[in-house]
Amino acid sequence: DTGMFTYDPGYTSTGSCESAITYIDGDQGILLHRGYPIQDLATNCSFLEVAYLLLEGELPTPEQYGTFEHAITHHTMVHEQIHKFLEGFRRDAHPMAVMCGIVGGLAGFYHDSTDISNPHHRMIASHRLIAKMPTIAAWAYKYSMGQPLIYPRNCLTYAEDLLHMLFAVPCEEYKVNPVLAKAMDRILILHADHEQNASTSTVRLTGSSGANPFACIAAGIASLWGPAHGGANEAVLNMLSEIGSKDNVSACVKRAKDKDDSFRLMGFGHRVYKNYDPRAKIMAQTCHEVLEELGIKDPLLDVALELERIALEDDYFVEKKLYPNVDFYSGIIFRAMNIPVSMFTGMFAVARTTGWVAQWNEMVTDPAQKIGRPRQLYTGPTQRAFVPFDKR
Ligand code: SDX
Repeated sequence: DTGMFTYDPGYTSTGSCESAITYIDGDQGILLHRGYPIQDLATNCSFLEVAYLLLEGELPTPEQYGTFEHAITHHTMVHEQIHKFLEGFRRDAHPMAVMCGIVGGLAGFYHDSTDISNPHHRMIASHRLIAKMPTIAAWAYKYSMGQPLIYPRNCLTYAEDLLHMLFAVPCEEYKVNPVLAKAMDRILILHADHEQNASTSTVRLTGSSGANPFACIAAGIASLWGPAHGGANEAVLNMLSEIGSKDNVSACVKRAKDKDDSFRLMGFGHRVYKNYDPRAKIMAQTCHEVLEELGIKDPLLDVALELERIALEDDYFVEKKLYPNVDFYSGIIFRAMNIPVSMFTGMFAVARTTGWVAQWNEMVTDPAQKIGRPRQLYTGPTQRAFVPFDKR
């Protein structure tokens, strides 16, 4: 008897995770948020409409939307003491380290957010997190550039405000390009929630102990940072830049197939999708639209298209059902927006905060919810006699 325990991957010991927020059919390439296909939401909604849907379960009426938008807009400022917190980081710290640190630190600012049994406090904490993430992300970028921090502006939409805080400078008026604002709004929708991915599971597991919601979201940011997860969009751009031209694509595909240096095609493959990630299709279309409307000819798009063409025809990728995922094209759009590669995953975190917050709310309000306690497959030694120090 090796004392082996059974291991249910992805499930806590208290059983499977139930959720009504997002449905994925990986074989069919289907993604629904509260029953609505991602294609319909990305084409017809604003990001805050989708945020409301994820949180509340229904698309908002105009009146509900107005109230929600006002609540989010009026929580976008961050406590002034965060300036001091920022100054504690090196200027060249990765923005995800800064975002993780600041969000975790905010757990010490809002004492009402520790009382998660109070619905009003839960709602305020949720609105604060969704509202402040663009400000925190933009401030992490401005700090890394040594530029003045730009404050949120209530007259701008969520996506416009994010772009304004990233790129405005005090010395001149910055007008947000509507093409980029629309593209950013759609990118935020495409990244908002995705069932029980690594970072969302991290938020749920952290929150299942009753931890402060800001601390839970900081844990989600930490998990998302990894190159196998949200860090993939940064890794895709670095990979495309390293390939450099269409002529080098075949060598890169061969390298991924040979797996000699455990190299993987970044932006390809998925734990669940064994078909084309529906978000990647919308992202590719958005990429073409943005580059065309801005009159930008990005050679990396040609590299990406060639890489996709070759991979989708190659037996290795077909057999292993490896298709482009949400991260494959997003970086090219971010480049067109002049967002630096180091901020790509930060943009993903801004969007995913809404999904994390919705999933956290769903979990902490579930009366049957217990603390998460994943089990293991024990592979260590069976019980044995102790050996005293002088006998070893
Ligand atoms: C996200 O979970 C989510 O929902 C995540 C996400 C979200 O919205 O939250 O969708 C966001 O994280 C998207 C994924 C971003 N990551 C990347 O693009 C990094 C590159 N992709 C991989 O590292 C990989 O595909 C994973 C991590 C996404 C999935 O890894 P798995 O589970 O090991 O993939 P798999 O089991 O499907 O692999 C099957 C085979 C393996 O080969 P064998 O062991 O069978 O020989 O395919 C190979 C893998 O080695 N493989 C790849 C590959 N991905 C898998 N080979 C080359 N290039 C790749 N990208």
